[in-house]
Amino acid sequence: MPLPDLPACDRCESPPLAGADAGLAQPKPHRTVRILYVSRAAERLTQFEVMQIVAASRSHNWRAGLTGCLLFTGLDFAQVIEGPEATVRALLERLASDPRHTGVRVLSNAAADRRRFANWTMGYILDTDLSLDVGALLEASTVSEDIVRRVMARMAGDVFLGTS
Ligand SMILES: Cc1cc2nc3c(=O)[nH]c(=O)nc-3n(C[C@H](O)[C@H](O)[C@H](O)COP(=O)(O)O)c2cc1C
Repeated sequence: MPLPDLPACDRCESPPLAGADAGLAQPKPHRTVRILYVSRAAERLTQFEVMQIVAASRSHNWRAGLTGCLLFTGLDFAQVIEGPEATVRALLERLASDPRHTGVRVLSNAAADRRRFANWTMGYILDTDLSLDVGALLEASTVSEDIVRRVMARMAGDVFLGTS
């Protein structure tokens, strides 16, 4: 059966992705997307090792054009990553097989008009008060939008909280 035609990405010089990706949401490698995922830190991961992850991420993300924020509760991670779709996808694949955490659960993955973390190659927040919230996002069968909003608000500060 012929592959379905995919709409061209207005910034792509190469043909749109096909093959394995053809049946999925039509990818446009250059458009900006924002993902939010949660995961559980590997047992015995130290605060020092988390800081090493943050430092390496900042350096890699700066080169790759990625921005975002990592929140650590002492037990779990929540991370927002934004940037070109193909780059974000590639990072997600590496993240999924990184033994320093498990159970990567992507909660949202959507096109973004603008970056909300434009000034952060990777912001970092340690907040043990959010342990229950992030744990719930990881384990609950249905994802609470209220908790997602709370966690995102903590990461983005007044950008998400707004003033009105
Ligand atoms: C919680 C967590 C968050 C991470 N965030 C990033 C990130 O934002 N950018 C990044 O390049 N690597 C990040 N990493 C590291 C990647 O999983 C991976 O080790 C890194 O991209 C190097 O991959 P490579 O060794 O295959 O080149 C993170 C790892 C963990 C455990």
